[in-house]
Amino acid sequence: MHSLQTNNQAILKLVDAWTPRLMGLTNDVINRISHHHWTVREILGHLIDSASNNTHRIIHLQYQYTPFPFPDYARNGNNDRWVAIQDYKTENWADMVQLWKYLNLHLAHVISRIDPGKLRNKWISGAGRHVALEDMVSDYLSHLRLHLDDIEAVMHPPKIIVAIDGHAGSGKSTMAAELARAVGYAYIDTGAMYRAVTLYGVEHGLVEEGRRPNADKLSESIADMHLYFFPDVLTGRSELWMNGRCVEPEIRTIYIGRLVSHVAAITQVRKKLVAMQQEMGRDKGVVMDGRDIGTVVFPDAELKVFATAAPEARAKRRYDELRLKGENPSFAEVLRNVRQRDHIDGTRKDSPLRQAFDALLLDNSYMSTEEQNAWLLNQFYKTIRS
Ligand code: DC
Repeated sequence: MHSLQTNNQAILKLVDAWTPRLMGLTNDVINRISHHHWTVREILGHLIDSASNNTHRIIHLQYQYTPFPFPDYARNGNNDRWVAIQDYKTENWADMVQLWKYLNLHLAHVISRIDPGKLRNKWISGAGRHVALEDMVSDYLSHLRLHLDDIEAVMHPPKIIVAIDGHAGSGKSTMAAELARAVGYAYIDTGAMYRAVTLYGVEHGLVEEGRRPNADKLSESIADMHLYFFPDVLTGRSELWMNGRCVEPEIRTIYIGRLVSHVAAITQVRKKLVAMQQEMGRDKGVVMDGRDIGTVVFPDAELKVFATAAPEARAKRRYDELRLKGENPSFAEVLRNVRQRDHIDGTRKDSPLRQAFDALLLDNSYMSTEEQNAWLLNQFYKTIRS
């Protein structure tokens, strides 16, 4: 059989194997982000575009003069921009898979009818390269394989531990949660756990403003606190539950924010929460953020990041966040709270906040959320591919 037809068989086999796999992908996987920063949805959109363009080119090369100029969308512009403007974001996924399947069946039919006398006919690409019809078909197959492999990698990412520590308000939680979503990991916000213990203490008269917390009773009570993270059904965001109730809104108030550093300084409390966190990360595949993750909880984490930003930049973020939630603090009050927490977190005896020697430092004072997310995603892929 001519190699052209062998290629064709390989294309059909891939379509056969991948159609049910793609159909079965959950929304979570479809929106994950691959190493070249495309979502699975964008990769499939790109493959739909590739099947359609190649069909046109193959037909042209059999009926037009040679060499024949034909636009090269990927190289004329920027491939990422070309992918981004093919907006498949609102398209029904099952429809996209069907479109991809039938465009490939059509392409395979076109390939099976290629006139062997035209195989050396050439296409002049946008970059001035000459590509023979024959090579175009084998390039199509490798390109298809390459991107299906990318999807496979996104479906089954290797499991590592990503430890993200840093100052209050350094944007680490936002960045950590987005990385976990993008790569299909669990996100564990350990600050939320210290906050929940504080809330429990306040509700049971063990923690009060202006008084030392009742350390013994509080750490004993941890056995009665069933803490677990559960994704919100609508947003998919990980939320902390305590004894059957979602405590997210209550643990984020400025009041709890003022008390939590004192609770987090209690050694018995830390010991118990650290053990819980180690258990949560036992099977890896987690992004955990806090103050001591890279130094105490998972000193062997494969990727460690230490995030920081100028106190004013961090206070501004917290201030905006609190106002969005309907609280009305003064900026000076929030800044004071940030500085005070830096001081307590950084000078406490047990596990003071510090950068692990092998952690990457990220100062994000002047970075947008998107830039931070992209930076972290790059570090993640660098780590799992090294
Ligand atoms: O990140 P956050 O603001 O939600 O953290 C709340 C408090 O808990 C903060 O004062 C630091 C402390 N904390 C800690 O000591 N160790 C952690 N692993 C996480 C948070």
